[in-house]
Amino acid sequence: MQNFDVVVIGGGPGGYIAAIRAAQLGFSVACIDGNTRNGKYSLGGTCLNVGCIPSKALLQSSENFAELTHSFVDHGISCDNPKIDIKKMLARKDDIITKNASGISFLFKKNKVTELHGWASFKSAESGKYTISIDDNGAKNEVSATHIIVATGSNSRHLPQIATDNVNILDNEGALDLNKVPEHLCVIGAGVIGLEMGSVWARVGSKVTVLEAAPTFMGAADEQAAKELLKNLTKQGISITTGVKIGEIVNKAKKVTIKYELNGESKEVVADKLLVSIGRTPNTNGLNVDAIGLKVDERGFIIVDDDCKTNLPNVWAIGDVVRGPMLAHKASDEGIIVAERIAGQHPHFDFNTVPFVIYTNPEMAWVGKTEHQLKSEGIAYKKGVASFMANGRALGLGHNAGFVKMLACEETDRILGIHMVGPFVSELISEAVVAMEFMASSEDLARIIHAHPSLSEVTHEAALACDKRQLHG
Ligand code: FAD
Ligand code: NAI
Repeated sequence: MQNFDVVVIGGGPGGYIAAIRAAQLGFSVACIDGNTRNGKYSLGGTCLNVGCIPSKALLQSSENFAELTHSFVDHGISCDNPKIDIKKMLARKDDIITKNASGISFLFKKNKVTELHGWASFKSAESGKYTISIDDNGAKNEVSATHIIVATGSNSRHLPQIATDNVNILDNEGALDLNKVPEHLCVIGAGVIGLEMGSVWARVGSKVTVLEAAPTFMGAADEQAAKELLKNLTKQGISITTGVKIGEIVNKAKKVTIKYELNGESKEVVADKLLVSIGRTPNTNGLNVDAIGLKVDERGFIIVDDDCKTNLPNVWAIGDVVRGPMLAHKASDEGIIVAERIAGQHPHFDFNTVPFVIYTNPEMAWVGKTEHQLKSEGIAYKKGVASFMANGRALGLGHNAGFVKMLACEETDRILGIHMVGPFVSELISEAVVAMEFMASSEDLARIIHAHPSLSEVTHEAALACDKRQLHG
């Protein structure tokens, strides 16, 4: 039986990063992953295979098509009868996945991480070593290690009333692989997946109807930012209804009928495809956690402390399989932190500076507290809001919807939250994260020179506006 200092279970953005960092720190490391794509093992987890990366590839392709059909004419560019080849769009996306997955295998070789294939489960814990069984398509293997990092990620949550078949009733995997534009796509859940995948298919011609159970749209985000996003998505023809109670769903004769209640009234949507995007559940079922006494909560999440330590010595858990936001960069950062803690270092993880991004058009991004949170925590704050409307770079791009809102402590001026809706705010948010990590004040950002013309000037203006000295507002 092969023995390692560290065995990582799961090769997603949490696991593969943890494995590389642990190897860099001098440990012997193996990473076990069971995910397959087209019959071959494929590293990168949900993020690379059926999540972040393929969705962003399709968002870009569909955005290019939407620009060509709707906005390039404003630039004086036109073409007759533009077409989109969906199969080619999917092939491009698949090619990106293949390249990146083999890139991770290359990084494993470079860093001397042993890549093991198959489904892992705990077998035993004896004399300070954990033994793990691996099932590689029926071929059994065992490895042992002193330290275990569980990074098994998550899977889509399903509705009790209907099974996902990824033909008509889709989860993220099916929504990323539709080889024909559905005439009418119904989405249950106006969360991140619903809005991003709804945008992809709306841009290439689907009628998109989103049904959301919560009473408000994007309740966890800044209220003003959520309103701005809703306004823009509605303008793009995406219909979003909140406060619904989903009832019976019938998948018959190539049509899906979704019955729901809204304000006590019975309604229904008849669509060609239904995307169910109502959150995700942790992958702990097949792990045989009882064999070693690893504790999970009632929803299946592995219970960890702030440092990702489980209830067992030298067993750690990171990413989607533990508490906290289900985001790739959160998983990766936890992976680095755990590897460094195993090496006796003392890195920290600050949940308050995890950025959130939704890659719609306009994009939405935020870090830190919302106004609602500050109010409920009784923290006095000031705010500065600046719009992209007259920003020269945004006008040049032809994307000038949205704004940047900065929230700073009334007393100390320390930045407490930054909320953005607008072009490339997925990139602009990094400045906000750096500022918050360095405990910057709004005055610090106001005094920093921002290039002209650039979108970042709107962040600068928001910082100036905190002190009521905005120059372009
Ligand atoms: P995962 O990426 O889920 O990886 C876990 C791996 O472990 C998988 O390969 C799984 O097969 C494997 N595994 C599970 N159990 C076992 C076992 N017993 N033995 C061996 N292997 C096992 N996040 C962002 O930050 N930005 C985005 O833009 C974004 N877009 C997304 C879009 C979609 C459609 C979806 C579904 C998710 C998106 N996410 C995004 C979320 C992101 O994908 C996850 O937060 C991230 O992948 C979690 O990383 P992880 O390493 O914890 O788990
Ligand atoms: P989500 O948690 O973002 O949204 C789920 C939505 O479904 C919520 O608004 C919820 O109120 C609603 N809902 C739940 N049950 C419902 C029901 N029965 N009927 C109607 N609505 C219901 O989950 P989603 O979109 O599935 O994404 C999963 C995870 O993937 C998220 O946690 C997110 O962090 C991650 N992700 C991140 C992305 C990014 O960072 N850009 C992109 C896509 C996913």
